Amino acid sequence: MRLFVLLYAVLSANAATIPQRPLSSGNSGTPLPLLIWHGLGDRYDREGIKEVKELAEKANPGTFVYPVRLSEDGSADQRATFVGNVNEQVEYVCKDLASHPILSTAPAINALGFSQGGQFLRAYVERCNNPPVASLVTFGAQHNGIAEFQACKDGDWLCNGWEGILKGQTWTNFVQTTLVPAQYFRNPDDLENYLEYSNFLADINNERTKKNATYVENMKKLEKFVMYVFKNETTVVPKWSGWFDEFNLTSAKRTKLQDRTLYKEDWLGLRWLDERGRLVFKETEGRHMTLTDKLLMDTFTEYFSKRVDVLVAKESLDL
Ligand SMILES: *[C@@H]1O[C@H](CO)[C@@H](O)[C@H](O)[C@H]1NC(C)=O
Ligand SMILES: *[C@@H]1O[C@H](CO)[C@@H](O)[C@H](O)[C@H]1NC(C)=O
Ligand SMILES: *[C@@H]1O[C@H](CO)[C@@H](O)[C@H](O)[C@H]1NC(C)=O
Repeated sequence: MRLFVLLYAVLSANAATIPQRPLSSGNSGTPLPLLIWHGLGDRYDREGIKEVKELAEKANPGTFVYPVRLSEDGSADQRATFVGNVNEQVEYVCKDLASHPILSTAPAINALGFSQGGQFLRAYVERCNNPPVASLVTFGAQHNGIAEFQACKDGDWLCNGWEGILKGQTWTNFVQTTLVPAQYFRNPDDLENYLEYSNFLADINNERTKKNATYVENMKKLEKFVMYVFKNETTVVPKWSGWFDEFNLTSAKRTKLQDRTLYKEDWLGLRWLDERGRLVFKETEGRHMTLTDKLLMDTFTEYFSKRVDVLVAKESLDL
């Protein structure tokens, strides 16, 4: 860990004076740090997240991996996956990363989002992106929202406690600022309420009349935006949300991203990325969050292996 502090400290101290150098190829240089934002009900310090971290380090030795957390206390971090204002949570993460001794001095970072962590990392890119994300990979994300709330598992006290409130009162200010999944609820048959009251998703998807140009600019800085959906996904309804497709639950009609206004008018820069081969649609076997070691290793090798010459000035990185 100390090594990173030193290397990146050299980088930032000399950014203004060191002549521009190309990105190093081959095995020299340092891999970009990697963020992992876990999903609903999970916590940053769980064993499973540590295993993913170890795989990332194995795939690209020297990677500094940072599991995103909303509190250093793992149980508080877990609670924040259900309860809280997502806008405030993203802002908290923005501040945490921008002031992190290692991450804040990295020329760029990579990002891996699990389930709802996928759209939250996208919000980080759109709103803050400091340090900037090079490649964003999401697994089973709800980029186009959820149109149904999932039944709680037995004994899930936190979930059970909220379920009743969620169902009838999705669009109340209280629910929209308190209950995390409600903030990415989106039913295509009730877009009116969604556009008016959605606390989070309608904004980061730039679906309202007034568009935020910063969101588009920041998305265009992504080198790769890779979206995985699970073939046997049943937790995320509709599963195509992971690809920004719209799905009518009544008629079972699926409208692909490329046929949506969001893409045609390029509200998020997705079309721009797609036309440059930088938007990647992937499918993988199994149900929600079936992550095999092989799948993760392949992903890390393919998308997170780029190494940077640490002497490259921050501004000169071609993202
Ligand atoms: C657009 O988003 C940026 C980043 O979150 C924010 O600072 C800015 O105020 C927003 N602009 C508008 C017009 O809402
Ligand atoms: C969804 O399908 C139903 C049944 O065909 C239709 O009545 C409804 O208008 C559709 N919703 C949207 C948003 O297209
Ligand atoms: C996925 O679903 C198909 C069809 O229902 C089934 O045949 C297959 O075994 C499932 N695969 C996994 C990995 O769950």
